[in-house]
Order: sequence, then structure tokens, then C-alpha cells
Amino acid sequence: MKEIQRFAEVISKKAGAILLSGFRAKSTTITYKRITDIVTNMDRKSEEYLCEAIQKRFPEHAIVAEEGSSIESASDLVWYIDPLDATNNYAHGIPFFCISIGIFSKSLQKVMVGVVYDPVHDELFSAYRGGGAHINSTPIHVSKTGSLNRAFLATGFPVNRDNACRDNIEEFSRLALISMGIRRIGSAALDLCYTACGRFDGYWEPELQPWDMAAGALIVEEAGGMVTRYDGSAFIPSFPEIIATNGKIHEEVLRYMRR
Ligand code: IPD
Ligand code: CA
Ligand code: CA
Repeated sequence: MKEIQRFAEVISKKAGAILLSGFRAKSTTITYKRITDIVTNMDRKSEEYLCEAIQKRFPEHAIVAEEGSSIESASDLVWYIDPLDATNNYAHGIPFFCISIGIFSKSLQKVMVGVVYDPVHDELFSAYRGGGAHINSTPIHVSKTGSLNRAFLATGFPVNRDNACRDNIEEFSRLALISMGIRRIGSAALDLCYTACGRFDGYWEPELQPWDMAAGALIVEEAGGMVTRYDGSAFIPSFPEIIATNGKIHEEVLRYMRR
């Protein structure tokens, strides 16, 4: 897995350079996938580069990427790729976005490698199962905050507005009133990495996709945190929700989510 992790780190940095070249550039174009969901030509450029590089190096592996690239295969390993997480920030010139790459084992039903790269701040978050989590090669750990009223949290709201009962408004209200504060910074992958390195004490979000969560979820676990679904059961990337915390506040967050 270490070899795959190193490769994922190298290509995420190259994709980061591609994204920076189009950031706040006049040549970057926006199109609407749905009324509240945009994509830029740079999302596609980044995805094209990543998928080509992976196919060249690991032709037997499967790939599922957000902008439609998909390689099916009998291989145990699937690469979940978000070529640009936080497109909305990127398209509005807000310097907060990343590339997220998670490598999932079908037989173990677990994410084995997670790499998230934020090119603006040059922060590379990386983990392989059993190897701990790192930021730019320095080990990272979750926070030690022990109660929800001292906790600094993050969340996000679904792009798809069709499912009103999953809009996260009630959960947001409840947790806003009990916690020390909540941020909505616009990148699920970075919300998870910030939880992994103790900047946030916890993060939750409904209606996410495997490419949003896979990498960051492993990075949180390897940093000593806890990652589950809303009912406390085991996280899997294909189930569209996540609660990730430092472990100490996990039960309390679950309780407030359920009320
Ligand atoms: C989005 C971001 C955002 C989250 C949305 C995602 P995208 O990803 O991660 O933080 O709230 O649900 O769709 O579309 O910018 O890759
Ligand atoms: Ca995303
Ligand atoms: Ca994306």
C-alpha cells in the first residue's frame, strides 16, 4: 500500500498545480450540472490527468471519479477520485479547495489509502491503513476536547435540494446551540482532514459521495479519531453520510443528531 500511497501523493500534487494554473484565471469556465451544482473546465482537466496517470501505472485497478471517468475491473482496489473538492469556492476565487483520492478494498470493505492535497496552502494530508496519518510528512492527531460544549465543529449542506428531510438544517440548529461554534468551509475532504489534525473536534454531513469522504475518513481514523454513520454503525464510502470526531465527543454528537 505504501507504493500506491506515494504514487497518489505525487499525482495529487501534480493535479494541484493544474488547479492553481486555472485559479482566478479568465480562461476558467463554469457550467451548470444542475441549478445548484456547478463544474469548471479545471475539474475536468484535473480528473483527466489523474485518471490517465492511474491507468498508466495501475491498469488493472478500478476508478470511480466525480466528473464521470469510470474504469470497471475485477481488481480488489477502487480509486475514488474528487479532482476538485469545493468547486464552489474555486469558481468564486476563494482559496480553499483540494484534490481527494481514496483507495478502497472491495474484499475488506475498507479504505486502504487516503490522500488529500490543498495546493493553495501546500498541505498534503496522507494515510495508509495501519500507518498513521501525516500532514507534509509530520504525524497528526485528533484533538483532546472532551465535551460538546467545548467543541469546534464543521458541517456542510447538500448540493441536491430534492431531499428536504436530509437538508441538515435541524441538525445544524441543534449543534449550533450546544457547541462552541460551527464552520461551513465548503470542502468535505478538508473538513475531515482538519478534524484529523485537531483544527476541528468533529464534522458531520449528509448526502455525500464516496469521492468526498473516502480519503478523509481514513485520515481521521489513522489520526486516532472515530468515523461512523449517523446511527453509530461502521462507515463505508458508498453510504451517503458521515460523522467524524476525535472519538471523545462522538457519543454526544450522535445523541444530538438523533434528537
Ligand atoms: C462538495 C463539497 C462541499 C459539500 C458538498 C460537496 P464538490 O463537493 O465537499 O463541502 O458540502 O456536499 O458536494 O461538489 O465541490 O466536489
Ligand atoms: Ca466533493
Ligand atoms: Ca468535485
